[in-house]
Amino acid sequence: MSFDTIRWSDKKLYLIDQTALPLEESYIEYTDHAEAARAITDMIVRGAPAIGVTAAYGLVLAANEIAASGQPFEPAFAEACELFAATRPTAVNLFWGIERMQAVADTMAGQEPQAIADRLEAEAVAIHEEDVIANKAMGRHGAALLPERCTILTHCNAGALATADYGTALGVIRAAVEAGKDVKVYADETRPFLQGARLTAWELMADKIDVTLICDNMAGALMQTGKVDAVVVGADRIAANGDVANKIGTYPLSIVAKAHGVPFYVAAPISTIDMSLGCGDLIPIEERDPSEVTGLGQNRVAPEGVKVWNPAFDVTPASNIAAIITERGVAKAPYTESIAALCGVDV
Ligand code: MRU
Repeated sequence: MSFDTIRWSDKKLYLIDQTALPLEESYIEYTDHAEAARAITDMIVRGAPAIGVTAAYGLVLAANEIAASGQPFEPAFAEACELFAATRPTAVNLFWGIERMQAVADTMAGQEPQAIADRLEAEAVAIHEEDVIANKAMGRHGAALLPERCTILTHCNAGALATADYGTALGVIRAAVEAGKDVKVYADETRPFLQGARLTAWELMADKIDVTLICDNMAGALMQTGKVDAVVVGADRIAANGDVANKIGTYPLSIVAKAHGVPFYVAAPISTIDMSLGCGDLIPIEERDPSEVTGLGQNRVAPEGVKVWNPAFDVTPASNIAAIITERGVAKAPYTESIAALCGVDV
């Protein structure tokens, strides 16, 4: 990839500004953990694995700030964890990353604050590196499911920009291309935040992967006319029964795919699976600011004062999903059993 979604250098965090893409490729430097938390809320960085990695580095910033200030480590670090946990509610990778960092801090309780901060830095770097390895493994498992010549429809951005690198859904596409398959991609624009139009189109074009942009409401006609061989999307949280929360608009795609016999694949790391939730109804769904719906970019398109509903995610039932692709292998129905097996737990 010619860009870094997330870079850690000299104890500073750098994020590519995803609100500026594709018009401008710029990076923002973070030295303050509260600013890094705001970057998640404001979607400077977005995508489930990417916000988990960002929270981990943000907690390293917090640990270094605490060590420098001389205040008691444990309560101040717990407060920083709470700040990151309050940024966005749906993607479980965020909480997974925070809990992993908190667990490391817990094992070092009472030790010298700078030593704890240094150990936390090593943990955040490990989380970052493991995500890339997981995406490449996921890509190999997913690519094997795709025909030699195929057209894929994807929604939102589940690419390098949504992860540490390579991507989940786009990682499957990248791996298929690397394996010599002839792959064409349709990208939904993904209103209201336009992750498909702004980010997926940009990153696939940068990799010279054949991509065609469509408005969300064109996906039905695309599948009805036989132009799609498979749908591949990412996930923000997967319940123990295989129900999947992903970007708003994923659920209707799954219905149309099922109606037309198009396989609907979800690609996500094990860290996206939430075994504590029995089904998708229990996944908290973020609602975002109405201005995302009343405007298009900087331009207002709806009348002042109109009521708006703006959920950022929806839940696709497991029954609409042909397979869930993880770094440990592919889960298929019955999902309660296959997901538990991949997670190494008893049903
Ligand atoms: O609101 P976003 O842009 O953070 O939503 C992102 C998605 O829904 C992605 O599909 C999901 O996080 C998977 S990213 C590998």
